[in-house]
Amino acid sequence: MNHSLYDKLQVLEPAVKAMDREERLSAAGRPLLSWYHEHRRILPWRENPEPYRVWISEIMLQQTRVEAVKPYFDRFMEALPGVKALGEVSEDRLLKLWEGLGYYSRARNLKKAAELLVEKYGGKLPSSYEELKALPGIGSYTAGAIASIAFEIPVPAVDGNVLRVISRLTGSMEDITKQSVKKDMEELIKGVMPREDPGSYNQALIEVGAIVCVPNGAPLCGSCPLFSLCVARQKDLTGVIPVKAPKRNEEKSIEPFLF
Ligand code: ADE
Repeated sequence: MNHSLYDKLQVLEPAVKAMDREERLSAAGRPLLSWYHEHRRILPWRENPEPYRVWISEIMLQQTRVEAVKPYFDRFMEALPGVKALGEVSEDRLLKLWEGLGYYSRARNLKKAAELLVEKYGGKLPSSYEELKALPGIGSYTAGAIASIAFEIPVPAVDGNVLRVISRLTGSMEDITKQSVKKDMEELIKGVMPREDPGSYNQALIEVGAIVCVPNGAPLCGSCPLFSLCVARQKDLTGVIPVKAPKRNEEKSIEPFLF
């Protein structure tokens, strides 16, 4: 990764300006997209974002790291190259293809959804957010990812990476485990995201969260396209934000509200 530009900015950069969250997120759009076009990882589902490929990759990525998903994705595409093949595959063969990825309900939901797609949509994925979200195994994140990446519909795709990046960017101390906070963030993004290339915009947020504004350990702020806009970075709050409520069995922890 080329660190030099952001490293230089670190030296020259004045105090983060006062802005409301809409303004701050709007201002983040351009740097995010140009960073993404330069630094994104080349991934099989990105280079050929057909709806079926995006769907399968997003389901695999729900609980599994990118590097672990890659070989499974390629094998799956070769064995079951489209909706029809997925709808017709035996459960045994499907679970064998999924073996090692875990969370097998994901695979069963894929098959159920494929059967439905053959029955109702002529074996194609529907091109609307609402219809996608009504399919088995598809929630707001996955519907947003497929709609934006495969169909270029400007809807958000908010996963844990995006919650972390935007909470830090805006300096939000809200508990990101709350559904209401996720909903609010979806609304916020929807209002400011670019109408053009929404798939790259959503993936840029995900990618910054995956490789710069990382979930474990210190974020790599010196390499971040949002360095000069980020409230958590400036206030030295990246160790505190995102705020996550403790899980029940950790409630007695001495740092109950810290990540
Ligand atoms: N994690 C979830 N969706 C992803 C995507 N499209 N690219 C990389 N990582 C992801």
